[in-house]
Amino acid sequence: MLGTDRLFFHIPFLLCTSLGFFCFPVVISQIPLGSRLSVEENNYWVSSNGDFAIGFFNRSNQYSVGVRFSSRSIPVSKQKFVWVAGADLTVGDKSHFQLTKSGELVLFDSSRGVIAWDSNTTNSSVASAILRDDGNLVLLKGNKDIVWQSFDNPSDTLLPGQNLSASRMLRAASRNSVSSYYSLYMDALGQLQLKWETSVIYWTSGNPSESRVQATLRSDGTIHLLDQNSRSVWSVLGGDHHDPDVKFRILRLDVDGNLRLYSWVQSSTSWISVWQAISNQCNVFATCGLCGICVFNVSGSPVCKCPFTPMSEPNSKCLVPYRQDCKSGSSMDMYEHTFVYGIYPPNETIVRSSLERCKRLCQEDPLCTAATFTNDGTAECRITKTQYISGQSDPSLGSISLVKRCSDPIAVLPVLPKSPLSSPPYTAQEGSHNLCVPCLVAVAVGTFITFFVIQLGIGLYFYRKRITLRKNAALTHVGPNADVFIMLSFAELESITENFRHQIGPNMYKGMLPNNRPVAVKALNATIEERKFRRAVSEVRSVSHKNLVKLEGYCCESGHRYLVYEFARNGSLRKCLDDAKMCKRLTWRKRMDACLAVARAISYLHAGCREFVSHGNLKCENVVLDDDLEAKVSEFGLGGVISEPSNSGGSAGKDVQDFGKMVVALVSGRHTTNDALKWAYQKWAGAQAAEVVDKRFQGGVDLDELERAMRIAFWCLQFDERMRPSMGEVVKVLEGALAVDPSPPPFALETPPGEEEESLGSDPEP
Ligand SMILES: *[C@@H]1O[C@H](CO)[C@@H](O)[C@H](O)[C@H]1NC(C)=O
Repeated sequence: MLGTDRLFFHIPFLLCTSLGFFCFPVVISQIPLGSRLSVEENNYWVSSNGDFAIGFFNRSNQYSVGVRFSSRSIPVSKQKFVWVAGADLTVGDKSHFQLTKSGELVLFDSSRGVIAWDSNTTNSSVASAILRDDGNLVLLKGNKDIVWQSFDNPSDTLLPGQNLSASRMLRAASRNSVSSYYSLYMDALGQLQLKWETSVIYWTSGNPSESRVQATLRSDGTIHLLDQNSRSVWSVLGGDHHDPDVKFRILRLDVDGNLRLYSWVQSSTSWISVWQAISNQCNVFATCGLCGICVFNVSGSPVCKCPFTPMSEPNSKCLVPYRQDCKSGSSMDMYEHTFVYGIYPPNETIVRSSLERCKRLCQEDPLCTAATFTNDGTAECRITKTQYISGQSDPSLGSISLVKRCSDPIAVLPVLPKSPLSSPPYTAQEGSHNLCVPCLVAVAVGTFITFFVIQLGIGLYFYRKRITLRKNAALTHVGPNADVFIMLSFAELESITENFRHQIGPNMYKGMLPNNRPVAVKALNATIEERKFRRAVSEVRSVSHKNLVKLEGYCCESGHRYLVYEFARNGSLRKCLDDAKMCKRLTWRKRMDACLAVARAISYLHAGCREFVSHGNLKCENVVLDDDLEAKVSEFGLGGVISEPSNSGGSAGKDVQDFGKMVVALVSGRHTTNDALKWAYQKWAGAQAAEVVDKRFQGGVDLDELERAMRIAFWCLQFDERMRPSMGEVVKVLEGALAVDPSPPPFALETPPGEEEESLGSDPEP
């Protein structure tokens, strides 16, 4: 596939740098035994397609040797190293890197006069080396047997086509010559894990499954976990997956501990991050190291701040001001919306307690330096017994931290022992790791324009791709229970929907996958820009909740935009409410459960995801009922790509208002026109709420529950958006965990408030 045989006919020749000033002798493709690179000659070997080069590079006055993108493909200032011999290893300025006559790659360090790294292949009959077109440096025995390859010995980056197999890892590059504590590890249970040191796992992919054997990055911008048969069993998509405009992609474990997928966007000559494992950077364990508490500054970038001691210099350490040996007693300072944890060592004692008791527990324990009380219902008190702490602070955090301080007036910060700790792993912010949202938007807009022009020219490409797709029908790989995200060609869609024969809703069709799993196929406006569509797909895909309909796949071909959802046998709530037989089965209990399910799903979209996601078009048509009549919300997160008349863009307030209407619809069984809402309000305000209830279902009505549902519904329908509750509050009211007063008249009935007051009559306020 890589055409190695072809490469063997290349011979060494002169290649000039892109600057055109100097010409260095470089060997292309095949690297014969005895070839040598040195710091002094500044020479390098290039892959036959010119995309990659291997050579020495400067690293804070020392040198390393590694594979990078060549200056022909990416400007020098934007180059990233994708593999480094010995990862963190640096050598002196007279060092060399050689493929010895005995077939071994060795890195000789001039400053210490020793071989600092070797490929350990002396006795493997290596005949030559090749830097392949995909950036893989391989040692070959004979013409094709691979003895050693850089792809099997990754440093901090995976390239497309590179696999991370069980018990291999990526390690983030070092900072200030201190080895990084962050690694990405493929464990024996087939999970990818981000680890801090050896013990703290702060991110895990998917569920454990022994059938998974490796992770891989594909050139289309998707990351997969594969089973023994190389079938994808788990995947994530970059925001621009399958975008043909992206020439290079890399998956890198960055120095700040986050795993990111980057795309090289030629039109803006920049790398942009299109996916990251941990959406909130402050959630990366110890991302601030000893430099303080992670917070987001006004421009939305994570920064490290120390609230405990005055920051005289930016790089100073942030230690708990209590040294575990105060003579004159101690006091506790309280920091709201703050979560701190110990990092040396990263162990904590967790007990359930009240805030008061938590404070007392720490105060009474001479070893306790700080305590964090998690105020999210778990009432956990975490007792930290080290001065070395890290943490985060954000207005959305419910936790409260109590930090001990010596009352001793002469208390000063201790001098740290000379150890790796004395140079903080996290010093300054590295610009490239902060996602600058306005920049991304600008990049996206710029790229879009270029993309659009290019797209006109690649119609033919798409046509060809469609034919290939049809041939390798991705669908044939879909196992019965595989959690696979599928991409379908339009031809495949036609086939699974029998030419869109079974319409089950507006622009919605039923289809059947080859594994006999039914799906619902939604047709979207074919003119939606591809980049926007793919971004929406990956956003929707990244959201998962049991009351949200799962996105199973999509189709994005020129002239076709489709989403493939899991199928709900009972169809939409609207259909059920309109159907006499189904309506009968929708008992009071089922209806209230549906209200709660929808409220939970929307609350999750608003507050539980990494970013606020609005539904934008919540209505009975977009809620489906599964086999057990459990409600699931569909068509969320599409605000950016669909513009229906009723979809006035995304805001939490609009979703809350739409939810209010849905509650009235569920209780009354009616279509919630303005008249129906007014009628319902008047009945309720006139103490006749029971008359609003649908007469068609079987069984009784819980009147307390009815009152709660009506009250919260009319609060949701308030004309003044600021008066509407949050979806989190709605959930609590429906669960019965929060009491709610009767609402003032709802003026959200799309008539001016003055008229409303007249037509609605009396005010229910006591
Ligand atoms: C990665 O794994 C795939 C599937 O198992 C395999 O076909 C491919 O050769 C591997 N790539 C490398 C570079 O080893």
